[in-house]
Amino acid sequence: MSSLSNKRIILGVTGGIAAYKSAELLRRLQDSGAEVRVVMTPAATEFIRPLTMQALSGHPVHTELLDSEAEAGMGHIELARWADLLLIAPASADFIANMVHGRADSLLSAIHLATPARVAVAPAMNQAMWAHQATTANIETLQQRGVSIIDPDNGIQACGDVGPGRMQQPDTVAAMAGELFNRGTLAGKKVVITAGPTREALDPVRYISNHSSGKMGYALAEAASEAGAKVVLISGPVNLTCPDRCQLVAVVSAKDMLDASLEAAAGADIFIAAAAVADYRAKTVAEQKIKKQNDGISLDLEKNPDIVSAVAAANSQLFVLGFAAETENVETYARDKLNRKKLSAIIANDVSRSDVGFNADDNEACWIDADSSTVFSKRSKTQLARDIIEHMVNHHSL
Ligand code: C5P
Repeated sequence: MSSLSNKRIILGVTGGIAAYKSAELLRRLQDSGAEVRVVMTPAATEFIRPLTMQALSGHPVHTELLDSEAEAGMGHIELARWADLLLIAPASADFIANMVHGRADSLLSAIHLATPARVAVAPAMNQAMWAHQATTANIETLQQRGVSIIDPDNGIQACGDVGPGRMQQPDTVAAMAGELFNRGTLAGKKVVITAGPTREALDPVRYISNHSSGKMGYALAEAASEAGAKVVLISGPVNLTCPDRCQLVAVVSAKDMLDASLEAAAGADIFIAAAAVADYRAKTVAEQKIKKQNDGISLDLEKNPDIVSAVAAANSQLFVLGFAAETENVETYARDKLNRKKLSAIIANDVSRSDVGFNADDNEACWIDADSSTVFSKRSKTQLARDIIEHMVNHHSL
């Protein structure tokens, strides 16, 4: 698998002579499987033409904060949310200072403030500017905030000076961007995830189901796998491709999902119940197609087993994360489920909105456990999945 497959990267280009390397970097990121959008500061356009980057990326290059045409396409906040990684390469001394102060005077700096994605910078500047105390302090501040620094290379600079400050070669920057998604925090752990809807047969041609797309569960499988875990993805019928390196167990009904979950969870470390399991199934499945009747029909339904509760009860060693899709009193109902189902934590989300949750690409959620709650503002399900995995790793002994 390519190190950046399925990753969405905003390549931010700032004003410096190393901007000529950004075109090559864009290609290397694409070669590694990434989808790349380019944002340039006005100064960067003095060094490399946006047209070059547009032709290579296949998408319009964003340069202006107040550009009504660009905002009508993908607005800057939407772009900020779209990304998995904001990679600023080259990052000039001025832009780094701008980031430290949280300024929003250019499109790129506004995106830096608005994005929930991870951020990496590849500094490029004259060696004396790199060595200056102000730059050193700025870099330290960014590191403390979790920004990854791709340290500059040592050698002859465009100005004739020799020393550290020139941007790393595009191959190296692209490889380091790949490493950022490969942190290994779940190395050696087995994670079992349920995803998608279940289908409960009524007869040979009909069933009861729901609108779950499976996107959240699949994104969690990908994020856990990226973090180094061995992942078993138990999925109801969906139109998604199993992420690389995850073992797919395809199921149809809640009963199948329960059996597969109990089997996979034995000896696992983490169980994540992201599936939208049908609450009821037909008491008896008709062997032949049910014929149309004149005055309506009554279905005799019985309750499906609660998979996550059964798995939690059978495996006391497991960290069990559930989901609560609610339309009102979100936190109260989620806490009730946390306790009733004996979960370690629960992700609550509001499904009364059309822009997040069921079938949407974005989600907004709240992590709730016995003694805390943490809100994840609206972001792509891919990014939310990574943030959930990271939160679990950082706040719980697994
Ligand atoms: O009770 P409710 O369906 O709202 O609970 C949601 C949580 O319980 C989700 O994590 C879901 O995957 C899980 N669940 C389950 N088996 C069921 C019903 C829900 O595992 N039969």
